[in-house]
Amino acid sequence: MSHISLVGAGPGPVELLTLRALRRIEAAEVVVYDRLVGEEILACIPKGAARFDVGKRCGEPSPSQSQINALLLALARTGKRVVRLKGGDPLVFGRGGEEALHLARHGIQAELVPGITAALGCAASAAIPLTHRGVARSLTLITGHLMEEEDYQGWQALARSGHTLVFYMGLERADRIRRGLLAAGALPDLPVALVVAGCSPRQQVVETRLDALAQAAESLLGQSPVLIMMGEVVRLRSELDSLLGQAMERVA
Ligand SMILES: C[S@@+](CC[C@H](N)C(=O)[O-])C[C@H]1O[C@@H](n2cnc3c(N)ncnc32)[C@H](O)[C@@H]1O
Repeated sequence: MSHISLVGAGPGPVELLTLRALRRIEAAEVVVYDRLVGEEILACIPKGAARFDVGKRCGEPSPSQSQINALLLALARTGKRVVRLKGGDPLVFGRGGEEALHLARHGIQAELVPGITAALGCAASAAIPLTHRGVARSLTLITGHLMEEEDYQGWQALARSGHTLVFYMGLERADRIRRGLLAAGALPDLPVALVVAGCSPRQQVVETRLDALAQAAESLLGQSPVLIMMGEVVRLRSELDSLLGQAMERVA
């Protein structure tokens, strides 16, 4: 009998874990974790549990996805309580689907435990609604890696009005994103927020507009992780942020 759970660790703080995630972590005998899992959450792992850091780091050797898949399978077969811990949600740009499929194809049913993905965490902590009546009725979560395809065909759909875009892993491709959206008819003054280390004490939000996205992104190069949020909803931020600030002061 195997007990392997693919668990979303959320965007950083321990309070943003689900209760189920916390229970799985606290009961784990083995934990395999990624780079984006915060120290506060790693501190919840029982002292005696075995730990495997399989985080991908630029410029350093890190295990390949097939090595991680093989490790998970071998650990699952031990019958121990294994937790595969991933930043955000395991099924949003987290390769959780690939890992679950690999296990399933070898006869092991992994439990999937959702987490708060970066788009949701950053929206709340930067005070940017993702949808808002009369402003944005739809939302796309998209990876910046897609922008490496010079013949990418999706720009028109992304550039439509009344639509919020959230780019994961988009910082290095910001200029390509800017060019593609402008060529597809997006407005040059479309508001953009770059959220650095969302939900953490070092969170920083840089507001800009689409035509100045490349310069804003360049000023943040080397910072990580960064999420690019784009759309008319970003304009709501200043008012919401000051109201939220006042409410927090009243509670304190
Ligand atoms: C490989 S993806 C993993 C996404 C993760 N599975 C999730 O659901 O949030 C990593 C990217 O997520 C974004 N990201 C994750 N956590 C973030 C945070 N706390 N603040 C800003 N961006 C974040 C960044 O764009 C980063 O490059």
